[in-house]
Amino acid sequence: MNSERIGIIGTGYVGLVTGACFSKLGHRVICSDIDEKKIEKLKTGYCPIHEKGLPEILKESLNKGLIDFTSDNKKLAGESDFIFICVGTPEHDEGHADLTHVFESCRQIAGFMKEPKYIIIKSTVPVTAVDKIRKTISDNTKVDFKLLSNPEFLAQGSAVDDFLKPERVIIGADDKESADRLAGLYNGLNAPIVKTDIPSAMLTKYAANAFLAMKISFINAMANICEKTGGNIEKIAEGLGYDRRIGNLFLKAGIGYGGSCFPKDTKALYHMAKELGYDFGLMKEVIEINKNQRKLVMDKLKEKLGDLKGKLIAVFGLAFKPMTDDLREAPSLYIIDDLLKSGCSVNAYDPVVKELNGFNGVKISDDAYQTADNADAVVVVTDHPQLKELDFTKIASKVNSKVVVDGRNILPAEILKELGFNYSSIGRGDELKPR
Ligand code: UDX
Repeated sequence: MNSERIGIIGTGYVGLVTGACFSKLGHRVICSDIDEKKIEKLKTGYCPIHEKGLPEILKESLNKGLIDFTSDNKKLAGESDFIFICVGTPEHDEGHADLTHVFESCRQIAGFMKEPKYIIIKSTVPVTAVDKIRKTISDNTKVDFKLLSNPEFLAQGSAVDDFLKPERVIIGADDKESADRLAGLYNGLNAPIVKTDIPSAMLTKYAANAFLAMKISFINAMANICEKTGGNIEKIAEGLGYDRRIGNLFLKAGIGYGGSCFPKDTKALYHMAKELGYDFGLMKEVIEINKNQRKLVMDKLKEKLGDLKGKLIAVFGLAFKPMTDDLREAPSLYIIDDLLKSGCSVNAYDPVVKELNGFNGVKISDDAYQTADNADAVVVVTDHPQLKELDFTKIASKVNSKVVVDGRNILPAEILKELGFNYSSIGRGDELKPR
């Protein structure tokens, strides 16, 4: 396989995983970031994010001289032929994607280009911004360039595997030659490659995330019906999952999705459609169902404890999902906020997250039993597999009252019930009909 010169702008989850994995494939990679301190640390082999397999790849590639880090985009432009824009596209007010960093990166690269480049948008960007991106580059250079789109489908916790064993690679280009050159970077990965135009590539990414978010909101809406009828959402999801047209993934009911992608991308898609004159009501409802879902925790706690003022709540799980320390749009943040506003004290347990900024007085521990000590209720917010392994007899001996709200349907309900816990979960009626 040809070893190509690749530049990556932005060393967040997407940029760092992309850069590291391309170096693993034998390409020569240079990554840049405006955060100079982070760049210095990366050069020493430090991995700033919790991502399985990533520290090992970074170390190996540094040792082999296949990856380098800089905060100088001039150096990056000089040392790469393929430049991937991997900077953040955070949510702007009202849910639009904020593309400031994308435009700034493109402007800089254009200014530094001395020879033709492939500039590839990996950040999730609304299609409506493509013309402006192209113009930003052409206004700042006389050198020829090819703009491409190559969206990422990296889920946190499995991002390295998602890159190295992708289910598909999507390439959006204006011409076949550019698409083939970009596809060449993925040689050896044995994945289907979908080559298309730039708008279709970008929309595929939005469609994938929106569709998955829709599956989650759909099953959560069904769970809410189960709450009223006594049905068991897990059995329903199992029954649905055998239908290959539906599939069994992303049908886990709970207190909703979080993270840096689904919340942001669903809103951005809705707003983009609205600006184009299409009311994507379905997306609006997906977002709304998700927002309401996390309120179930408060409803259930009030039902069990009455007035929450002065109660101590043990929150099990802070991260938006297992195997990451990422708190972006984590349901835990909304739930803790509601608990504090209701006059509760909160202790939190998370096996990965070590820090929680912005909440005064919330004690974090990596010891679940310590967190449960004297609690009036335990609330499960993240489906960390470690929670299943806890010694619930010990928890029962620690808590002040045996109340559990399992927002992820993960705890062994029968054991908890036998131990005398007042246990409830989401959409199982809690009645645990034979399973
Ligand atoms: C997602 C996409 O999976 C990835 O392809 C994309 O490029 C980036 O966004 P990620 O945000 O890492 O990845 O998380 P993911 O594993 O997709 O889960 C998102 C959220 O949905 C989590 O909060 C998770 O707890 C929740 N979820 C997932 C459910 O509530 N139920 C499910 O059945 C599945």
